[in-house]
Amino acid sequence: MSSLTFDNRPGVIWYDGEMVPWADAKLHVLSHGLHYGSGVFEGERAYGGVVFKLDEHTRRLHESARILDFEIPYSVEEINAACNALLAEQGLKDAYVRPIAWRGSEMMGVSAQHNRIHLAIAVWEWPSYFDPAQRLKGIRLDIAEYRRPDPRTAPCKSKATGLYMICTISKHAAERKGYADALMFDWRGYVAEATGANVFFVKDGVLHTPTPDCFLDGITRRTVIELSRRRGYELVERHIKAEELSTFSECFICGTAAEVTPVSEIGPHRFTPGEITFNLMNDYLAEVQPKSAAHKQMAAAIG
Ligand SMILES: Cc1ncc(COP(=O)(O)O)c(C=O)c1O
Repeated sequence: MSSLTFDNRPGVIWYDGEMVPWADAKLHVLSHGLHYGSGVFEGERAYGGVVFKLDEHTRRLHESARILDFEIPYSVEEINAACNALLAEQGLKDAYVRPIAWRGSEMMGVSAQHNRIHLAIAVWEWPSYFDPAQRLKGIRLDIAEYRRPDPRTAPCKSKATGLYMICTISKHAAERKGYADALMFDWRGYVAEATGANVFFVKDGVLHTPTPDCFLDGITRRTVIELSRRRGYELVERHIKAEELSTFSECFICGTAAEVTPVSEIGPHRFTPGEITFNLMNDYLAEVQPKSAAHKQMAAAIG
């Protein structure tokens, strides 16, 4: 599966309410979403046939669109049902789920008052975001040159396609230097997040994580905070200065794709993945497994 390109795979994509053969799920080159970045998306994972926190993801998709001044013409319930139907249709239990909404081609200019809003959902197998062996040792992060923007200069609470421009540039620069990813600071110089995941640190047995005031307050991040509470760990959410990086003993990043991934290096700073990181990594893997009878029923229906 991994050697296949993303424009031609077996099966179907859910596209504006229809199941469309994968290779036919196309859009016109004069789409507003392509030219002006008016697109919002989600990244979700299904475990055992059940999408973890599906409703939260779909609500965030709706909210992301609202922030970009458009309304997705499908309700949260309809989108949830479409994600589940697509997983069943594709016969996938452990999969990545990618809904995306964008402005179409009716108007071509900055203003897009009358453009149709499209929604597509694709699912595919996607085992681990980082190399599994490297993941246990801890991945190495570069320090990005770009900074997460001031909320007054970008819609930072939206999972908008355009916000990923600086992530791709930063991740490419990191990969060219042999790093797995990059840590981004924010416009004030505080530690923000990785290019597609939030970050946590440990010092003297206490967890520290940046206040999400100019970047995504990830669903995984909130899950990890809940899991650390359950373990009775002390956790401080605060602004973290660059010069503090040398004072932490453990570090990990977390996101739907990355799950909980230990970090061993950020630029010149070194960390040793330890008990707190591994406990939360395992707790997260347990948490995402379907639990309730309803979940099991849904998984069984997928076959
Ligand atoms: C930039 C960025 N930050 C954080 C996250 C983590 O968000 P979540 O845990 O909701 O996947 C993601 C992943 O979607 C992301 O792309």
